[in-house]
Amino acid sequence: MRRLIIIGAGGHGKVVADIAMRVGYRDVAFLDDAEGLAECAGLPVVGRASDWGSFPDADFFVAIGDARARERIQRGLGGRAVTLVHPAASVSRRVEVGRGSVVMAGAIVNSDVRIGEGAIVNTGATVDHDCRIGRFAHVSVGSHVAGAVTVGDGTWLGVGSVVSNNVSICGGCMVGAGAVVIGDIKEPGTYVGVPARLLR
Ligand SMILES: CC(C)(COP(=O)(O)OP(=O)(O)OC[C@H]1O[C@@H](n2cnc3c(N)ncnc32)[C@H](O)[C@@H]1OP(=O)(O)O)[C@@H](O)C(=O)NCCC(=O)NCCS
Repeated sequence: MRRLIIIGAGGHGKVVADIAMRVGYRDVAFLDDAEGLAECAGLPVVGRASDWGSFPDADFFVAIGDARARERIQRGLGGRAVTLVHPAASVSRRVEVGRGSVVMAGAIVNSDVRIGEGAIVNTGATVDHDCRIGRFAHVSVGSHVAGAVTVGDGTWLGVGSVVSNNVSICGGCMVGAGAVVIGDIKEPGTYVGVPARLLR
């Protein structure tokens, strides 16, 4: 198997590294802009994010939480980002997972879901049937998305949040930890509480 270079040597990156090794990558290293950072989770940091061109034979994964930065860097890679699905995730045979996305341990993704590129379905999250998860969206740890939900590009569902069935959330939203979304969200912004309301 090829070398995998993970861009972003933070907490998210080290979880991604574990997944990569579980799916067979043996040679895993990081790129990160932090000064003097030599290793992450026992794996070497071999340069800065902009050094990716020095590794012509490697696969890449962008492990940066910020959706805009993730998108900018993944675009720069020109189609070289790989998709990672933890072997302990349950993903229906009728799911499409976009390039550069990750589905983490314990996540469940049910039938007829489409996940865009650069998205994160984090540890223990569930995405039920017929959902559309946008490009560079993030379904955080333990978040539950019921059936036929649309999550727009770059929208971040916070840890433990819940989205009721048939709801549509536009792009550019932050749904706070523990929030419960029971109706469509049409305006980008930060939404918190039960039921979720725009934070002014
Ligand atoms: C929603 C969130 C982004 C808001 O952060 P923020 O803009 O820095 O907001 P603040 O912490 O200044 O809080 C502003 C107000 O919203 C309230 N608030 C913040 N987050 C809230 C939440 N999740 N649920 C309910 N109320 C919340 C605060 O209590 C505060 O209320 P007050 O003005 O009455 O005191 C953040 O609190 C959050 O929930 N982040 C989720 C992180 C996460 O899920 N990480 C996942 C990693 S996998």
